[in-house]
Amino acid sequence: MLVSAKEILIKAFNEKYAVGQFNINNLEWTKAIMTTAQETNSPVILGVSEGAAKYMGGYKTIVGMVNGLIEDLKITVPVVVHLDHGSYDGCLKALEAGFSSIMFDGSHYSIEENIKLTSELVKITNEKGVSLEAEVGSIGGEEDGVIGTGEIASPTECKAIADLGIDMLAAGIGNIHGKYPENWSGLDFNALTEIKNATNEKPLVLHGGTGIPENMITEAISLGVSKINVNTECQLVFAEATRKYIESGKDLEGKGFDPRKLLDPGYKAIKAIVKEKMELFGSINRA
Ligand code: 13P
Repeated sequence: MLVSAKEILIKAFNEKYAVGQFNINNLEWTKAIMTTAQETNSPVILGVSEGAAKYMGGYKTIVGMVNGLIEDLKITVPVVVHLDHGSYDGCLKALEAGFSSIMFDGSHYSIEENIKLTSELVKITNEKGVSLEAEVGSIGGEEDGVIGTGEIASPTECKAIADLGIDMLAAGIGNIHGKYPENWSGLDFNALTEIKNATNEKPLVLHGGTGIPENMITEAISLGVSKINVNTECQLVFAEATRKYIESGKDLEGKGFDPRKLLDPGYKAIKAIVKEKMELFGSINRA
């Protein structure tokens, strides 16, 4: 079932667990994540960056692929196709193609401009019944060539954006995309508490899920985080499993070069890490 993220995140917020957003890159990624969600009876959010959308052919290809898998594989758990860190134009294109959720990342604009553009998108997404994520305080690290410096979001600015009628809010609390450096000082739970208090029960989104220690994930969920984004970790396990297959010479044995065989260890590795995250986030059997 392709659904907006609105209801599943309100439920997650109220029942104190988080739904994983796992970014997709191709058919194997998408199928691995969707079948794991079905097997574990968990809701799931498929994250698509603008770069990944371009890589896969475009927004329509993605919606077609996900809808096709829902039908062919009889996926009955809630599945969200969500634009990750969208520009204003990217948001319009994803909406037109049938995405069930979008993120407008206006964190690099002034707060006034972020408010203006986010509120325009609130109107459009409300009409379409699509969920909208907004961002305050840019999230550090690099994603698709976009480099954020990592900020602690201002609770006043978070309130201003949350009050516009968005469905979920990504706020910088010391989290970054990609691997965390050795000297990372961890998530700022005081900032998270202030943001939660200022935003009046708005489901919060934690970006940069890769490499955050389990105890910090659990604490973040207890403080209102209802959506956690994971991307790099799936890429790392996929690459590692594929490397092992090639380095052990399996592609040279019989028909080991067949892409269906070559990509299988990576596919299975993604399924395993997604299941592990769903267990940690508490979303299993919450479909
Ligand atoms: P990681 O790549 O660090 O897991 O972050 C993913 C993310 O936040 C996508 O928006």
